[in-house]
Amino acid sequence: MEKKNTKVICFTNNKGGSGKSTSCANLGYELSAAGQKVLLVDGDMQLNLSLSFFDEEQVMEFAESGRTLYEAVRGKKDLQDYVAATPYPNLDLIPSSTLMSQIEYELFSMMQRELVLKKCLKNIRQSGTYDYILIDAPPTLGAWVVNVLCASDWIIIPVEASPWGLFGLANMFDFLGELRDMTDAQVMGVLITKVDERKNYYRQTREILGEYETIRVMDTFIHVDSAVEWSQDASKPVGVYKKSTRSALEFKRLAEEVIRYGSGQEEHGTGV
Ligand SMILES: Nc1ncnc2c1ncn2[C@@H]1O[C@H](COP(=O)(O)OP(=O)(O)OP(=O)(O)O)[C@@H](O)[C@H]1O
Ligand SMILES: [Mg+2]
Repeated sequence: MEKKNTKVICFTNNKGGSGKSTSCANLGYELSAAGQKVLLVDGDMQLNLSLSFFDEEQVMEFAESGRTLYEAVRGKKDLQDYVAATPYPNLDLIPSSTLMSQIEYELFSMMQRELVLKKCLKNIRQSGTYDYILIDAPPTLGAWVVNVLCASDWIIIPVEASPWGLFGLANMFDFLGELRDMTDAQVMGVLITKVDERKNYYRQTREILGEYETIRVMDTFIHVDSAVEWSQDASKPVGVYKKSTRSALEFKRLAEEVIRYGSGQEEHGTGV
């Protein structure tokens, strides 16, 4: 089998509810539907990425059997042994567990604690099995998120088109700036999510982002769509739940944009 040049993309924003898990799950699904081999990594104790593909009972079963990201990172294990197949072709997942709430504490006593996740991912990357590894991060800026950023090539920052959506984004960029010596990860772009045509916040969000010359904004943006929440209730990607719904088409377009970015056709993002 041809060895793939694996790219790792993480979804971070310390602002909660900005659409990280939703974007990670649906971009992952749409990339896989476009024929890319994808591994999703649930890096959040809220289990939202895991619950996007499996029901609660199954997610609890993963946790009980110890096949979770938390156990792998805690034991500095090779993540290859923690991969679960999702019901969809080309799409695998490493589930999370609520114990992830203790990960900062676990990392505290480890040597080179910023690089633990990167090392756990090393063999999977080198095996060339996947085109993309997508990591969902929690809404924090601690040692664990530093691990996620150090393991990544590209960063997507989902931002909600709302009055407070951009609040704290400057902190996020300052934080990324401080990591410049530690990681080569580049910001692929800010992804504007939950756009509501009836409100004017999208335009305002874009205008404010436009004032920062160094911030790249993804061409694709995601509208608010009730099918997103119903699909999450059914533990399915929105593209499976309702293929023709607006957000499903937008996530498909986002997947195309990410593939174009990877093949160098898009202008590249800013280094952190
Ligand atoms: N396009 C959309 N249309 C409608 N609802 C959405 C959309 N995107 C996200 N949501 C809803 O908004 C909420 C927050 O989304 P999500 O969980 O993806 O954000 P998050 O950044 O991962 O949150 P956290 O910071 O807690 O991890 C969820 O209830 C989700 O169902
Ligand atoms: Mg989330």
